[in-house]
Amino acid sequence: MSELSSYAFSPLREGDIALYRGSGNGLAPILLVAAEETSLGCIQRLEHEYALKAELDADWAARPIALTHHNDRMTLVLEDPGGVPLDRLLGRPLDVTPFLRVAIPIAAALRQMHDRGLIHKDIKPANILVDAASGGVWLTGFGIASRLPREHQAPAPPEVIAGTLAYMAPEQTGRMNRSVDSRSDLYALGVTFYEMLTGQLPFTAADPMEWVHCHVARQPVPPNEQGAGVPAPLSAIVMKLLAKTAEERYQTTAGVEADLRRCLAAWEAYRRIDQFPLGKHDGSDRLLIPERLYGREREIDILLASFDRVVANGTLELVLVSGHSGIGKSSVVNELHKALVPPRGLFASGKFDQYKRDIPYTTLGQAFQSLVRALLSQSETELGRWRDSLREALGPNGQLIVNLVPELELVIGKQPAVADLPPQDAQNRFQMVFRRFLGVFARKEHPLALFLDDLQWLDSATLDLLGHLVTHSEVRHLLLVGAYRDNEVSPSHPLLRTLDTIRKAGAFVQEISLAPLAHEDLGRLIADTLSCTPGRAVPLARLVQEKTAGNPLFAIQFISALAEEGLLRFDHDGARWRWELERLHAKGYTDNVVDLMVGRLTRLPRRDPGGVAAARLPRQRCRDHDAFDRSREIERGRPFGSLGSRSSGAGRALGGLVQVHPRPCPGGRLFAHTGAAARRGAPPHRKAARRAYPCGKTRRGHLRNRQSAQPRSGLGHLTRRA
Ligand SMILES: Nc1ncnc2c1ncn2[C@@H]1O[C@H](COP(=O)(O)OP(=O)(O)OP(=O)(O)O)[C@@H](O)[C@H]1O
Ligand SMILES: [Mg+2]
Repeated sequence: MSELSSYAFSPLREGDIALYRGSGNGLAPILLVAAEETSLGCIQRLEHEYALKAELDADWAARPIALTHHNDRMTLVLEDPGGVPLDRLLGRPLDVTPFLRVAIPIAAALRQMHDRGLIHKDIKPANILVDAASGGVWLTGFGIASRLPREHQAPAPPEVIAGTLAYMAPEQTGRMNRSVDSRSDLYALGVTFYEMLTGQLPFTAADPMEWVHCHVARQPVPPNEQGAGVPAPLSAIVMKLLAKTAEERYQTTAGVEADLRRCLAAWEAYRRIDQFPLGKHDGSDRLLIPERLYGREREIDILLASFDRVVANGTLELVLVSGHSGIGKSSVVNELHKALVPPRGLFASGKFDQYKRDIPYTTLGQAFQSLVRALLSQSETELGRWRDSLREALGPNGQLIVNLVPELELVIGKQPAVADLPPQDAQNRFQMVFRRFLGVFARKEHPLALFLDDLQWLDSATLDLLGHLVTHSEVRHLLLVGAYRDNEVSPSHPLLRTLDTIRKAGAFVQEISLAPLAHEDLGRLIADTLSCTPGRAVPLARLVQEKTAGNPLFAIQFISALAEEGLLRFDHDGARWRWELERLHAKGYTDNVVDLMVGRLTRLPRRDPGGVAAARLPRQRCRDHDAFDRSREIERGRPFGSLGSRSSGAGRALGGLVQVHPRPCPGGRLFAHTGAAARRGAPPHRKAARRAYPCGKTRRGHLRNRQSAQPRSGLGHLTRRA
């Protein structure tokens, strides 16, 4: 855009992503968002925001008009709707009237954005333009916005999670075993409102991991107890937005907006706001099946108790979770994340793939890849500590583990080739070296929970290695959790035989067998999905129980299918879900839902190869086939394949934040990139981290509290607290 030179610019914000206002005689007012060309993540954000331009409406967003280079910076040009970033107006509490006069249009802007099917994922005052005089509000900062109704956020080091930690919903931190959806924006809206009303954030934290801990586990002091004269109902609205689980929050922005309008009307008429039931207009016509787990408290407690024993006694424990496909094994184990926010421990996971059984140790490689990548985003001092421990543990055999986790070479450097040995000796050597490698992560200061999923497909080399680990007394501070489909494991399956050997060797094996959901649990799941009383849900729950035998995956699919076919529908006038049992019964679903599943798979988009292939499968094969996994991804709004291969533990563990790099050929370069970071002479591990986390924040700037911020990663944090 050559005309940019005709504009005069005044800065609204400096920094890695700076904001300028441009004006000129007879020229349309514009805003410039300028990013350092050296900052890979920032540039991607501007490109992403520009790509969304057709979906951003001038009524509620500052619309992108061009993406260009200007003064050596990548620059996004926006139409200037007026107003100033809200963060410039904050710092002290706003009175009730000015608060509501801004809060209502903010909620309205967010509602319109959600109506367009977008999730912002970075709502905060700096991304909200406010014109207090006209009441106009426009959103900006769409650099990580998403078009998906739901998106899975898996745990990544807190330094590299996309978004702003001070405003981030618990599920967006990836530590909650929950997806991100429009309700994650509502949490960020709650933090923003809190700041507007009290002049301060609900939490303060000194480092990224502490932010994560605050959002996941700490309760904020309600705004009306902060001594700023906030009326109790306004405080309650903010606290509802700040609920830890999305189900307890407002479900829709329209619901928040309606309650705020009611507050404004009361305040203007009487200068007071009486308590009223919140969320009366918060009915959602989208069938959102809660992601909380029903009826698994006992099983989760068993897992947590095992981990507590590992922490307290420094022992090794093996827990096996079994049950039919879709019964909830992975979901139960992934609940461990919440408990394992450091300083308690580390979590790594990998998933066996039925088509990769002939490649030994792949799954262990995936699991440790996420831990090693986390090291790469650490400070040089912390990385140095890990490097020393790893080198000491691996000795001259580092190459064996580099073959498994190529990124390790960036931590410990190039390794000498290892001597060729006869197969049995080579296997013994590998087991010994791996055990020592594991021992660096599983330590008293940071016990490790290692989750290996879908053991029914494990390769024989890994099985031998697991047998070796659990029968070796040096392996300590480790909770090893395995999950497998018991309907796919016959008594002669190698897994069961090895377990037998392990038990005979005297190791304690804790077994959790997941049963179908009980009537009451399924009833609560349905009542929560349809926002009705458990009593009203009973007859429907009975039908679902009958058709799905209490299998949660099947139950969720069945309920979704009923809604899709219009047999469950949202009545906008009555603001509730309705169904007619007679019609459901008359529909005559078969005795089990496998037919239904196959029917659903046939309706999957043609371009989804898994869906089409699965639809052609004979019925029984389909029950056991990964096609269910695929249909499930689509069901929950995650396009299959968008997060990397579902079977890739590393891809999942990093939740699409990273590109999963193909393994290099032996001796090949891992990261071919020689970008800006390289030009600036960053240490090699940092450069790699930038590549590994393209949207990431390996820099300090995103921390609000800069002076006190000690950017530390979770792992380093652990080491120091020890
Ligand atoms: N207790 C529960 N309450 C509510 N939903 C549940 C529960 N358990 C599982 N689900 C849901 O059911 C689906 C299947 O769960 P999950 O993937 O954990 O099953 P799985 O046993 O690991 O299946 P697979 O054998 O295919 O790996 C998920 O969408 C999950 O959210
Ligand atoms: Mg599973």
